[in-house]
Amino acid sequence: MQSNAVLETKKISKTYSGIRVLHDIDFSLMPGEVHALVGENGAGKSTLIKIIAGVEAPDDGGELYFQGKRIPHMTAAKSIHLGISVIYQDVSLFPNLSIAENICKGLYHDAFVNWKKINGKAKEILDEMGVQMDVQQKLREISIGKRQLVAIARAITFESKVIVMDEPTAALSSSEVEMLYNIIRTLRGKGVAIVYISHKLDEIFTVADRITVLRDGERIETAPVSEFDQTKLINMMVGRELRFVPMHNHGDTGEVLFEVRGLTQEPAFRDISFACRRGEIVGLTGLVGAGRSELAQAIFGLTHPQSGEMLLQGAPLKVKDANDAIRKGVCYLPEDRRSQGLFQGHSMTRNITAVTLGKQLKRGLINAGLELKTAEKYIREISIRPNLPHINVESLSGGNQQKALIARWLNADPKLLIVDEPTSGVDVGAKLEIHKLLRSLAEQGVCVILISSDLSEVFALSDRILVMRQGRIVNEVAVGEATQEGILQKGLLG
Ligand SMILES: Nc1ncnc2c1ncn2[C@@H]1O[C@H](COP(=O)(O)OP(=O)(O)OP(=O)(O)O)[C@@H](O)[C@H]1O
Ligand SMILES: [Mg+2]
Repeated sequence: MQSNAVLETKKISKTYSGIRVLHDIDFSLMPGEVHALVGENGAGKSTLIKIIAGVEAPDDGGELYFQGKRIPHMTAAKSIHLGISVIYQDVSLFPNLSIAENICKGLYHDAFVNWKKINGKAKEILDEMGVQMDVQQKLREISIGKRQLVAIARAITFESKVIVMDEPTAALSSSEVEMLYNIIRTLRGKGVAIVYISHKLDEIFTVADRITVLRDGERIETAPVSEFDQTKLINMMVGRELRFVPMHNHGDTGEVLFEVRGLTQEPAFRDISFACRRGEIVGLTGLVGAGRSELAQAIFGLTHPQSGEMLLQGAPLKVKDANDAIRKGVCYLPEDRRSQGLFQGHSMTRNITAVTLGKQLKRGLINAGLELKTAEKYIREISIRPNLPHINVESLSGGNQQKALIARWLNADPKLLIVDEPTSGVDVGAKLEIHKLLRSLAEQGVCVILISSDLSEVFALSDRILVMRQGRIVNEVAVGEATQEGILQKGLLG
């Protein structure tokens, strides 16, 4: 045993309903190190974290040590008391409380709430982190990215010795990611140990000191970051070689299928005009807050723009609400899967077939056989794991939940499909599969609008790129003539 490890697991295993998702995991965490935990969707990363945090109990036989001391029965309360903070994939804070309350809740034991103290402390911590926020604002009013930063502020306030970040950057803008890197460096300097989970390999190589690779619940390797390069890391994660090829449209695109003219919805966006052709994938990029998601929501009928018009196949398109949009062939994969997409408490199958149940009707009844067949098709095509159609969707790993949602829209026969950060939280192999699916959908005549902050994704997939800034389209580039740097200079920054 490494004696100075702050945290150590020995032979930790976990079985869910007879399926072993972690096998004999030995994992150690040193003070002041950033230890990246990587692996495909469903590899067991979050499960290991939940065990460390005392949220899930491991199978008998494993051991957990904190600062050299065996903790026989870790509980959530114990782990918080020891100074272990976990920032989960789906942030679990209190939306109706202010930022300051979220940061300080449980810190003071005054008889009356001392707002001055709470607000002052929260501000002090955020200042230290280099983050500007109005601490009296309610948490529900700020972006998911900012909530992540609030969760980190909370961990710092409680002087955590171990901070676990489970895909912390999934919803962060690029400037917020830089902020996070700085915060991590400061924490590391203070001796805090950080577990960093991410599917974005460039982040791993930027922040990590050591990497542990999990595959199918087994630990494949633990080594200093200098012993890896991207290819080696990917091959270890997936256990096979992946080939990356750009997937642009090779043939001609068809007629204009969808058009937007002068669409305005103050203050989110104004005077938006563009057209997309059949078979085309149009990338829509820009900083978080540029108005991309708001535009998508307006097209999908979730909000109603003040002026402007939309046309589908040459005819005016008016959408009352989301159901109306789906009926007319306009589909939207939202960015925030937890609150906008998943039907919680339902099976993976029902989540996949939910909007197309009409197709599965047989004399007015749901045809369970057909429903199952549909789900199985997508489980196979985009490798949703585990291969259990009836599993509750909440038992799926984060990336596999995302895949189930994508399957839902692939199955809805869209004419126009808008995907908002479609591969957020999805592993490298599945990302490639999703790209292939979107491309094949385009080849079948669908028009795809791809919203993504991941420029390499936009470049790999789009035929044309629109750049949005502050609610306007400021640039349009054909992929052949664009470079990532060019896009950054022209549109995103400044
Ligand atoms: N409550 C549960 N019941 C049944 N199975 C579960 C439960 N929680 C997790 N699993 C299964 O355990 C496996 C590991 O899941 P886990 O969430 O740890 O993966 P992960 O590595 O974090 O993946 P991702 O990158 O997608 O977040 C998956 O197959 C998942 O479906
Ligand atoms: Mg996970």
